[in-house]
Amino acid sequence: MTVADSLTIFTAICKKMQNNQCIVLETQRLILREMTLDDLDNLLAVLCDPEAMQFYPKPFDRQMVQAWIKRNMQRYTQHGFGLWALVLKQNSKLIGDCGLVLQDVDGVEEVEIGYHVRRDLWGQGLATEAAQACRDYGFNQLGFNKLISLIHPDNIASCRVAQKNGMRLSKKTEWRNKPTCIYTVERSNLPI
Ligand SMILES: CC(C)(COP(=O)(O)OP(=O)(O)OC[C@H]1O[C@@H](n2cnc3c(N)ncnc32)[C@H](O)[C@@H]1OP(=O)(O)O)[C@@H](O)C(=O)NCCC(=O)NCCS
Repeated sequence: MTVADSLTIFTAICKKMQNNQCIVLETQRLILREMTLDDLDNLLAVLCDPEAMQFYPKPFDRQMVQAWIKRNMQRYTQHGFGLWALVLKQNSKLIGDCGLVLQDVDGVEEVEIGYHVRRDLWGQGLATEAAQACRDYGFNQLGFNKLISLIHPDNIASCRVAQKNGMRLSKKTEWRNKPTCIYTVERSNLPI
C-alpha cells in the first residue's frame, strides 16, 4: 500500500457525514466539507467576481466552476483532500472554499493551502480561520511537514492571510506564467 493509499483510507475514516455531506473540519464559525455539484450556484457567486478573480486569467463562468468542483471531487478520491466548501455555521450558507491541493512548483511537488471567500464577507478573519484549520489538519492529521501558499505579489490580502497562518515568504518564482510568491510554513516552526 502506498502512502497516498493509506492517507486516503485514513481521511475517509476521519470525516463525518451530516445531511449526506462529508464534513472534514469545523472551526468556531465555519464548517469545511467536501463540495458537490449541488454547490455550483453558490461557488459561482464567489468565483465569477472580477475583483476576487483579478489574479486569475479571468473570472470563472458556470462551466469553469463545474470543472473546478469535479476536479476537487477527484482530488478527494485520489488523495483524500482537496479544496473544501466553506460553510458559515450561522446560516449554513456556502461562502467560499479552502483546503489543501498538490501543486508542482519548479518541478517539486508541494502541498498548497488555497482559499477564496465571497467578497461581501472579506475582512472578518474567515479566510485566516479556515486556513489555520487546514494547516493544523495538514500537519497533525495528514502528517505533512511543510505547507505552502502560492500568491501573486500584488495580492496583499492573501499575503496577509498567509502571514497570519504562520507562513513566511520563502521564494519568488514564476508559476503558470505569473510572478508568484511562495509562502511557507514548516511543522517544526510552529509551537507544539
Ligand atoms: C484572500 C482572501 C481569501 C482573504 O479573505 P478574508 O476572509 O478577507 O481574509 P481575513 O479577513 O482572514 O484576512 C485578510 C487580511 O488582509 C488584510 N487586507 C485586505 N486587503 C488589504 C489591503 N489592500 N492592504 C493591506 N491589507 C489588506 C486585512 O486587513 C486582513 O488583515 P488583518 O487581519 O491583519 O487586518 C479574499 O480576499 C479573497 O477571496 N480574495 C480573492 C481570492 C484570492 O485571491 N485567493 C487567494 C489566492 S492566492
